[in-house]
Amino acid sequence: MKIFIDSADLKEIEKYVSWGICDGVTTNPSICLKSGVTGGEEGMKQRSIEIANLIAPQPLSVEVTSDDIDQVFAQARKFNTWADNISVKVTITDRNGASLLPAVYRLVSEGISVNVTAMMTFNQAIMAAKAINAGLEKTNIKKTHFISIFAGRISEEHGVEHSQKVLEDVRQWLDFHNYKNIEIIVGSVRSPENVKLWGKSGAHILTIPPEVIGKCLMNARTKETVVQFLNDANKAMQSL
Ligand code: E4P
Repeated sequence: MKIFIDSADLKEIEKYVSWGICDGVTTNPSICLKSGVTGGEEGMKQRSIEIANLIAPQPLSVEVTSDDIDQVFAQARKFNTWADNISVKVTITDRNGASLLPAVYRLVSEGISVNVTAMMTFNQAIMAAKAINAGLEKTNIKKTHFISIFAGRISEEHGVEHSQKVLEDVRQWLDFHNYKNIEIIVGSVRSPENVKLWGKSGAHILTIPPEVIGKCLMNARTKETVVQFLNDANKAMQSL
């Protein structure tokens, strides 16, 4: 299982790169806002290029800022030129529920890596996988594409067991149909408990916010044990 960092904060990303646990980065407009990305598209471009360079060749997901299909095409093609390791994030539908899969299918067929996002159901995920797969069949450029399932948001509505089942079912479906170059990203991870559960769901990737990664290492008994070792090391050194 891979870990992506769900952040646009360079310092946080750098930290987890230095820990050796960053297999990629995901952003979205809300994350960019939270991470202080300003200056419109130019600001977004600058930060995206910085992150992409920092983590290359690992992938960075950058989300389009419109749900108008023509805008989606135009932005996706532009974002794709910012760096070789950019994957363009497109929501599965527009704000009215109309399909954005025509964009997904075409962009994949043009050799652009796509991350289909904001998905809450098994049906959405398999439709996205089919559109990606159809695009892949039209091109010789076999990049990795992503389907992002927002397990945290699903859990808030239907409970954590349901979100786990969706992830397991989608993974099983991808394997059964032998779909290649498509990886499941688990989004909206909220806690270390989520990491523990969804890390065993069969999803290829968990994208985790920095604050949750920090909490994954915390354990009172570990801290106590480290203090004991240090105290005893000190005593042993003194008695030398
Ligand atoms: C990841 O790619 C998603 O954009 C992210 O995890 C969404 O999480 P949220 O539910 O906290 O917005």
